[in-house]
Amino acid sequence: VVLVVDFGAQYAQLIARRVREARVYSEIVPSTMPVAEMLAKNPKAIILSGGPSSVYAEGAPRLDRSLFEAGVPVFGMCYGFQLMATTLGGTVDNTGAREYGRTPLTVSKPGSTLFEGTPAEQSVWMSHGDACSAAPEGFTVSASTDVVPVAAFENDEKRLYGVQYHPEVLHSTHGQQVLEHFLYRGAGIEPSWTMGNIIEEQIAAIREQVGNKRAICGLSGGVDSAVAAALVQKAIGDQLTCVYVDHGLMRKGESEQVEKDFVAATGVQLKVVDAQERFLAALAGVSDPETKRKIIGREFIRVFEQAQAEIVAEAPNDHPVAFLVQGTLYPDIVESGGGTGTANIKSHHNVGGLPDDIEFELVEPLRQLFKDEVRMVGSELGLPEEIVHRQPFPGPGLGIRIVGEVTRDRLDLLREADAIAREELTAAGLDREIWQCPVVLLADVRSVGVQGDGRTYGHPIVLRPVSSEDAMTADWTRMPYDVLARISTRITNEVADVNRVVLDVTSKPPGTIEWE
Ligand code: XMP
Repeated sequence: VVLVVDFGAQYAQLIARRVREARVYSEIVPSTMPVAEMLAKNPKAIILSGGPSSVYAEGAPRLDRSLFEAGVPVFGMCYGFQLMATTLGGTVDNTGAREYGRTPLTVSKPGSTLFEGTPAEQSVWMSHGDACSAAPEGFTVSASTDVVPVAAFENDEKRLYGVQYHPEVLHSTHGQQVLEHFLYRGAGIEPSWTMGNIIEEQIAAIREQVGNKRAICGLSGGVDSAVAAALVQKAIGDQLTCVYVDHGLMRKGESEQVEKDFVAATGVQLKVVDAQERFLAALAGVSDPETKRKIIGREFIRVFEQAQAEIVAEAPNDHPVAFLVQGTLYPDIVESGGGTGTANIKSHHNVGGLPDDIEFELVEPLRQLFKDEVRMVGSELGLPEEIVHRQPFPGPGLGIRIVGEVTRDRLDLLREADAIAREELTAAGLDREIWQCPVVLLADVRSVGVQGDGRTYGHPIVLRPVSSEDAMTADWTRMPYDVLARISTRITNEVADVNRVVLDVTSKPPGTIEWE
């Protein structure tokens, strides 16, 4: 493992991903972790991330010198670089000369371990106030900028390296190459982290954890639960039962995708609960968004619990159902405090809001993985492309895309409009560029139109294409007018009661991605 020591800000996750892109397994640890504990993990290398502090600020995170004396290769970036410099006796000044953004870098030692084969002039991403003016003893300076005399240093004998910039961001044109040079050349690591290895390791771990007991998994139709279920199925076969609650709020073809394509691809044992009537009845007369969400969450839990009870009742003499499979991802784990060890936690609301009070041991085979890795594992396991590259879709489904009361007719209408929009976006090759495109029915709004020779009084459909990295912020996607025109023409022609298509041009904030 390569440890990425997190000094705050958002950099550590990105670095960890870049290391994995270099096919080396990485894990993030907080900078507050004692050095002895880091070394106990037997890391093949340690990377120190950037961070928001100045090394001179009061209370700025520090590192014990012993980290640099343990014989483990270390690579410091930005704050990590400055910390390395000051800890080992170099000089970092608060010069007041700041560098932010894209900056030209001059490589002064072209054949060096870090810069071998990269151009003498390259563009890097800087973000710092302090600057290193003298490298520690025993280090060679290998790059500089107009502002910083020491922008990179190397000590091959001790296998310690550092750069002032952020090699992990794409704006640093040779960043990935420099990182790989550190891993392969500096630290002598063989790249071996592949999806095939992950799958094998996880299958062994799942078998060991579950033994001969049984497990259940709630399928939401989303990528994470599907890949988690497929992996567990591969490990324990029919000891796993998947439960799919068909609440009638899915988009066109999605339930079939789970019931047919997913089962065909994985051979999973699936229990489908048709709960459409139940959800419609519970939602009757309700148009307040929060109330809708609560009702959908509550009904989901009830149906899931009932299904679980049925699974036990159908084979009471079989081994107990003791495990719940969840598609928790690595970013969830990091964000909730790092979490080493899988304790007997109560289930969090990962798959469409599962109950808080059911006592299962969790099986979380994706807890080491980033989203793009989960997709790769899914492909490797043979899951259909439509599942593996599915855009995010909210647990409450179309229930929160009908502004107004949810009825069967309105759901059918919205399903048609949504299917047309998706079809056209896919045909235009926009699926990867657009993060997601909610299609919303303003059921309580009517406007006047004209179709054929007659006046119409129909509902508007809103298109909400957004571009985003993580759904926390988003911008509306500037998509081609001709694609918008095709979607509009088709929806107004093919979907009864819709006579207007409008485009939502609001970023998030202030608007959210969904309308409810
Ligand atoms: P908002 O509307 O808050 O959405 O900007 C951010 C992202 O979250 C999705 N979303 C949900 N996903 N259960 C989910 O699993 C939910 O209740 C839910 N509400 C919103 C939304 O589609 C977007 O990707």
